[in-house]
Amino acid sequence: MGTCMATELTRVAAIGDIPPGTMRYVEVDGLPIALAHAGGTIYAFSDACRHEGGPLSAGALIGETVTCPWHGWAYDIRTGKALVPPVGIRIPTYPVRIIEGDIFVEIDWPDA
Ligand code: FES
Repeated sequence: MGTCMATELTRVAAIGDIPPGTMRYVEVDGLPIALAHAGGTIYAFSDACRHEGGPLSAGALIGETVTCPWHGWAYDIRTGKALVPPVGIRIPTYPVRIIEGDIFVEIDWPDA
């Protein structure tokens, strides 16, 4: 068997907190997460840009693309993949669940 993972579902916001086309910064046990409301869906992904850690939730959201406010690296928020060179870089994305108007993210915390 592989490594044991403990999946945790955490409430991070209400749907009404994130109007369509906007983002919001949240933290789950110190993990920086950006929430984005795009195309009728809520996405969750790492807030830390893979370049120098810029705050993606403070960047620009156009469609399903987020652009870092610091030096312009862009990512597809559905997959976390970088859309500009260097390609092959990815930010973590997290499954989102909506339960009665509240937004929950699912995080796999590796066992130590
Ligand atoms: S820190 Fe995001 S582009 Fe530089």
